[in-house]
Amino acid sequence: MSQILEDLEKRRGQALIGGGQKRIDAQHARGKLTARERVDAFLDENSFEEFDMFVQHNCTDFGMKDVKMPGDGVVTGWGTVNGRIVYIFAKDFTVLGGSLSWTHAQKIIKIQDMALKNRAPIIGLFDAGGARIQEGVDALGGYGEVFQRNVLASGVIPQISVIMGPCAGGDVYSPAMTDFIFMVRDRSYMFVTGPDVVKTVTNEDVTSEELGGASVHTTKSSIADGAYDDDIEALLQMRRLIDFLPANNQADAPELDTYDAWDRADASLDSLVPDNPNKAYDMKELILKTVDEGDFFEIQEAFAQNIITGFGRVDGRTVGFVANQPMVLSGVLDSDCSRKAARFVRFCDAFNIPIVTFVDVPGFLPGTDQEYGGLIKHGAKLLFAYAEATVPKVTVITRKAYGGAYDVMGSKHLRGDMNFAWPSAQIAVMGSKGAVEIIFRKDMDDPAKIAERTQDYERRFLSPFVAAERGFVDEIIMPRSTRSKVTRALRMLRNKKLENPWKKHDNIPL
Ligand code: HXC
Repeated sequence: MSQILEDLEKRRGQALIGGGQKRIDAQHARGKLTARERVDAFLDENSFEEFDMFVQHNCTDFGMKDVKMPGDGVVTGWGTVNGRIVYIFAKDFTVLGGSLSWTHAQKIIKIQDMALKNRAPIIGLFDAGGARIQEGVDALGGYGEVFQRNVLASGVIPQISVIMGPCAGGDVYSPAMTDFIFMVRDRSYMFVTGPDVVKTVTNEDVTSEELGGASVHTTKSSIADGAYDDDIEALLQMRRLIDFLPANNQADAPELDTYDAWDRADASLDSLVPDNPNKAYDMKELILKTVDEGDFFEIQEAFAQNIITGFGRVDGRTVGFVANQPMVLSGVLDSDCSRKAARFVRFCDAFNIPIVTFVDVPGFLPGTDQEYGGLIKHGAKLLFAYAEATVPKVTVITRKAYGGAYDVMGSKHLRGDMNFAWPSAQIAVMGSKGAVEIIFRKDMDDPAKIAERTQDYERRFLSPFVAAERGFVDEIIMPRSTRSKVTRALRMLRNKKLENPWKKHDNIPL
């Protein structure tokens, strides 16, 4: 028996060092942790249970017969995050560059199947060179099977991807089908084809960072939902994100104790909206003063900043916040921010997370740039997402709610459950200047008349009362009481049950 135990220890020891000390040192020299170090940093201490540590590839082509590396380039298993079960796979760059073989794919597939069967989140840590070139179609087939499972799990369990090194070729499409992608700055990049192929095909000279670094994907392409400075920070933030999420689409998000009083009033909010309707203010302040303990996990913070999306808690429970940001483009809806918010609203709806919407929106962004870019279709995504959502929806209009954007942003007409307005709310088809120029065009040569018409319009429409008279706004509230009003609304809606008509799936404009 002692001989057997010794042999086991020896084999485990071999597996644990992956591609060997030299490659581990090279990994560290690049400022990266190894796959196992990452798994340990992410999970609760000593909670990791590994699967398939001894799996070997079965490729015999191109000299691979004698290349034996236990684990085959990916570390897989499950563990806990603050006591809650999470499945994990981490690409091991020290083993053949973390490249994906048929057996490597089988390890990931096993974890995906277990996560789905047991309805727990799955997180993938990427640091790899794509399909294992020596394996040909076996590697491509392996990717296909991983992709298929990403799709089946979508909307059932949360799927998170963290890009911590290279992520090229086949490796990019699995993350692309998960709910969230995060990156590590300056040492991770994602692209379908790398700089060399780009040079050959398009004759462009571009570095890996310029082509697919964290700054590109968090600000330009919107592929990534956020980026962090190093592996440890990224993994700790992922633990924080997991705490906001339910295990699956039929579970509630964990309820956290909070010392923050549910009815905390904040008098400073009474002066958040400036007297001048054209002056900006920071909507994040309202979010931070509404959530428990100011704890807000922002999604896509650096992209389309005219809308804010992210998770916070109210009364200890997770809420998805969507808010126009007057500080950026006056909070206007454009294509990018509509897509960003639509995806977020759909995630919340899929996972039973109530949506709180803060509205200050002057409308949709005019111009050829937007129209040629498909603003109609992208704006429709957000409209569609709000309209189909059946989770509790609470909306607060702080200032402008103009035009179609009024309808889109969680209005009563899209089955908003509780729609509040601050006294400063202005709900109308458009602002006074544009409105008067159109409906009183014949008086344009008479400044006195125009001034009178403008005043009339502002008195009548630029207030919450016309909407409140019709029941489109349920209550006009004091800004200071926003947190307590939202909390009570969400308590009231806790058992909300609303079902859409049966369909195979909808046909959201893509
Ligand atoms: C086999 C690979 C590999 C791969 C890297 N390695 N990528 N082995 N298949 N795809 C091996 C290297 O031979 C090397 O082995 C070790 O991993 C580390 O690689 P290096 O090149 O030394 O590291 P680095 O300089 O950091 O460069 C990393 C890299 C580069 C940028 C990822 O290796 C690279 O460009 N690899 C190929 C990327 C690629 O084209 N993949 C195929 C994509 S096509 P040793 O033994 O020396 O340590 C694809 C199609 C799927 O994925 C489509 C499905 C939809």
